[in-house]
Amino acid sequence: MNRQKTLFHNRRITPSSRKVYLPACFRSVHKTRTGKTMRISVISGSPKGEKSVTLQYVRFLEEAFPDHTFTVIHAGRDIRAIEHQEEAWNGLLAAVKDCDGVLWATPVYVMLVPAQLKRFIELVGERDVEGAFSGKYAACLTTSIRFFDHTAHAYLHGICDDLGMRYVGFCSAHLEDLRNEAFQEQLILFFTDFLEAIAERRPIQRVFPPLPAPSSPYAPVTPPAAVDTRGRRVVILHDTEPGSGLAAMVGGLAACYGDSVRVAHIRDAAMKGGCLGCCRCAFENTCVYDDGFLAFWEEYVAPADILVMAGTVRDRFLSAAWKQFFDRSFSNGHVPAFAGKQIAYLVEGPLGHLATLREVLDGLAAMEGANLAGIVTSESGETDAALHTLAERSVRLADRGYIAPPTFPAVAGHKIFRDEIWGGMRAIFKADDRYYRQHGLYDFPTRDYRQRIVTRATSLAMSIPAVRRDVVKNMPDYMIQPLEKAIESSRVLAKRKAER
Ligand SMILES: Cc1cc2nc3c(=O)[nH]c(=O)nc-3n(C[C@H](O)[C@H](O)[C@H](O)COP(=O)(O)O)c2cc1C
Repeated sequence: MNRQKTLFHNRRITPSSRKVYLPACFRSVHKTRTGKTMRISVISGSPKGEKSVTLQYVRFLEEAFPDHTFTVIHAGRDIRAIEHQEEAWNGLLAAVKDCDGVLWATPVYVMLVPAQLKRFIELVGERDVEGAFSGKYAACLTTSIRFFDHTAHAYLHGICDDLGMRYVGFCSAHLEDLRNEAFQEQLILFFTDFLEAIAERRPIQRVFPPLPAPSSPYAPVTPPAAVDTRGRRVVILHDTEPGSGLAAMVGGLAACYGDSVRVAHIRDAAMKGGCLGCCRCAFENTCVYDDGFLAFWEEYVAPADILVMAGTVRDRFLSAAWKQFFDRSFSNGHVPAFAGKQIAYLVEGPLGHLATLREVLDGLAAMEGANLAGIVTSESGETDAALHTLAERSVRLADRGYIAPPTFPAVAGHKIFRDEIWGGMRAIFKADDRYYRQHGLYDFPTRDYRQRIVTRATSLAMSIPAVRRDVVKNMPDYMIQPLEKAIESSRVLAKRKAER
C-alpha cells in the first residue's frame, strides 16, 4: 500500500518492518498490565503527512507497542479531501468509531494546532458527528520548541471535553527529544499510562466547563461617536459573515475611527492554502506560496499603526480561516512582525469562558512586539461604549508610543527563541539570525562583561565575614539603593514628557 497516497492506514507492526532502534532497557517497559490489544486512532495534525516530525514519535510508539494497532488519520495533510470527499470523511469516522483510544499527534503551530487540524475539529462540530468521539479515551502528543505548547494542549483538552471524550493527558516533546534516551523512556511511560487508562476504564473528570449557549448577536444601540485619529493609520481585519453580530461590531468600531480607517476581509488575502510547515521560508523569510497573502500583508498589516483583528469564536478559538492567517505569518520568521503597533481584537463569542483563547490573543500581541490596546467582546451589555473606548485608547496610546513592558510569556518566549535560533536554527533561519544580530536580541547574560565583573567582585566580597554580616543585616537597603537615582530623576522626566 502506498502510504503517501492513502488517507489513513492501519497496520500491525511486524518485526521485519521495525526501523526504530529501541534500547534494551525499554523492551520490557512497554508491556501494559492489561494484555488486551488496543486500537488507537492517531489524528495527525501536521500538513507534512508521513514526513511529519511528530509522526516519527508515533512511529516510535508503534515500535515500542507492537501488540497494539495504530490507524493514522492525516487530518493536517488531507484536510481538503476530508472536507470535500464523502468517502474520505466516512472512512475516518469509521476508524474513530472503531477505536479504543484517540491520540491527537500534532505540531504546535502559532500557539495552537495547525489551521488544517483546527478545520478538522470544526467539521466534527458542523457535521454533528461528536457521537463518534464521545466516550473515547484521548491523549495528545505534540512536538514544538515548547513555545506556547501549553495553550495547544489546553485547546485540545477543551475540545476533548466538549466531544465527551476522556482526556488522559499530554506529552509535549521538543522536536529533537526523540534522540534522547531519557525522553524515550518518558514517552513510553506516557503511552503506557494512556493504554492502562483505557483498559481500566479509568474515570476521568471534565476539566473545561461547557461553553454557554450563544448570546444574541450584538446590535448597536447608540450611534458611535467619532474619534480624532490624528493621522494614525488604522486597519481592521475581519472574517465576518454579512449581517452577523461581528459585522455590526466591525462597522461600529470603523465608524468611531471615521474616514481614516481601512477595513478588509482576510478572505481578500486570497490564500491558496494553509502553511505547509516546509520551513523553506527560513532562509529569506519568503513563502513558497505564490498567492495574495504577502501583498495583503504589505498593504494592510505592515503600514498599520493600529491593527484590529475581528473574529467569531468557533469551538474554542477563532475560525480556522483566522488560524490559517496566523500560521501563514510564520513566513516572517521570528522577527516581531507587529513591532511598535497598537493591537486590538473584537471577539464575538464567550471569550470570558475561554482563558486559553485570551492567552493566545494576548501572547500574539506581546510576542510580536506590540501593545495590546484592548479586546472588546460581544458578551457584555456595554459593547457600544467599549468600542468607543477602544478607538480612543488605541489612538492615545499610539500617539504616546506606549508599549507595555513584557510579562512572563513574552520574556520567556524571547529567551526560547534566542536560545533556539542561536543554538542551531540560525544555520537555516538566516533571516532571523540577521535580525537578531542587528537588533541586539542575542542578549545572553554571559555577554554582559561589566555585570559579570561586578557579580564576581560582589561574590568575593561576600566571603569577608564583616561585609557579609552587613549585607545580611541591611539587605532591603541594598536592594533599593540602585533605584534611588532613578527616583531622583523622575520629576525631570515627567516634566520633559509633559512638555512634548
Ligand atoms: C507555521 C509554524 C508555526 C509554528 N509555531 C510554533 C509555536 O507556536 N510554538 C512552537 O514551539 N513551535 C512552533 N513551530 C515549530 C513546530 O511546532 C515544530 O517544528 C514541529 O516539530 C513540527 O512538527 P511536524 O513536522 O510534525 O509538522 C511552528 C512551525 C511552523 C511551521
